[in-house]
Amino acid sequence: MHFLSLSATALLAFLASAATAAFDAASKNNVITYWGQGANQDRLLTTCQNLSYDIIVVGFVNVFPDQGAGGWPGTNFGNACWGDVYRNNGVNTSLLQTCPNIGPDVIECQNLGKKIFLSIGGGQPTDYWIKSNAYGKKFADFLWAAFGPVSATKSSIPRPWGDAGVDGFDFDIENLMDPAPQNDYQTSGYVAMINQLKNNLFPTDKTKAYYISGAPQCPIPDSHLSVALAKAWFDFFFIQFYNTEQCSARVATQKKNGNGQNDISYKKWTAQASKNPNVKMSIGLPASKDASIATSYYLTPAEAQTLATQFYANKRFGGIMVWEATEAQNNAPCNVDYSTWMKKVLEARAAGTKLDTNLRTCAGVKKRSLPHYHSHGAPHHHHR
Ligand SMILES: *[C@@H]1O[C@H](CO)[C@@H](O)[C@H](O)[C@H]1NC(C)=O
Ligand SMILES: *[C@@H]1O[C@H](CO)[C@@H](O)[C@H](O)[C@H]1NC(C)=O
Repeated sequence: MHFLSLSATALLAFLASAATAAFDAASKNNVITYWGQGANQDRLLTTCQNLSYDIIVVGFVNVFPDQGAGGWPGTNFGNACWGDVYRNNGVNTSLLQTCPNIGPDVIECQNLGKKIFLSIGGGQPTDYWIKSNAYGKKFADFLWAAFGPVSATKSSIPRPWGDAGVDGFDFDIENLMDPAPQNDYQTSGYVAMINQLKNNLFPTDKTKAYYISGAPQCPIPDSHLSVALAKAWFDFFFIQFYNTEQCSARVATQKKNGNGQNDISYKKWTAQASKNPNVKMSIGLPASKDASIATSYYLTPAEAQTLATQFYANKRFGGIMVWEATEAQNNAPCNVDYSTWMKKVLEARAAGTKLDTNLRTCAGVKKRSLPHYHSHGAPHHHHR
């Protein structure tokens, strides 16, 4: 038997503290990931067992009822489902029927203290849209009956995940159609849909919290969600700093961008009009070089630390979102997966300490470029 090295001890202490932390929606240290689209992805439960995660967003509901066969929405959760679908009005819909592990895993994940959101939209296909407020409201009603709590069950609507009910709904709206089916197809319906969920469907008894999140691209305004942010309630915004060059996470680490500015779209986002003034905004990063449209947008953990440190004191700072779970699991400098690195980065910033010395090299910290911590911003502690 031999002694644990200092770094291993520090890692274990970190893991132990993460294990006991209860979910805190207001935390600056939340780590969020998407699950459902990973290549050869493990079960949802495997992702939940990773101590780094606070919220796991399952994607996607990528066919909307206005266009969907049989008038129902459709889903895609990668390898987690068989190919069979529900039928409505005598036709096959695109709503997947048999995803044997998702329901039980959602329940088990929630027992582990994780919040599970269902994401609506996604990057593929891009031809979904909501015609009007009335259709948005109906879409909300359907999703609540299908994926909300068991008590919301309606006999006319299936329960693809059985008794499992989600903790929230995420809007990752990326539709793009040519010709446009109607002028406002990128924005129409979402405010009504979110209002229906938040104001009419989510229970008001406060025994259990339900959440709304949005995942815009980084340019401002976001052609899909900026309107909704101002007019409807979002608890979280997971901003995608990995799809657009002008405001990618890489640009944000460079001294100056082409306009002579250090990117500041994160800061600008936190100044956007929001119906919920305390909306928490997370920095969305690619989990690996392959998780982004350009390998250069990937940040090493040390670079992510610099970025997070730069914005940590902002009142709306809400942690780091990682796209996506399988890429994060497979990208493990020094055998620490990328999401665990992100948790370490945030916890270190909160505690006012540096990343563990022996791990700094793996994190990509260059000599003499360690970020300096400032004392402003009180360290945040999880409620236990
Ligand atoms: C979770 O974190 C542990 C420790 O870094 C790692 O070994 C494991 O692969 C991770 N699992 C997932 C599913 O990300
Ligand atoms: C409808 O879906 C089922 C599987 O869910 C399949 O066996 C059947 O062939 C499909 N019918 C049509 C008309 O595509």
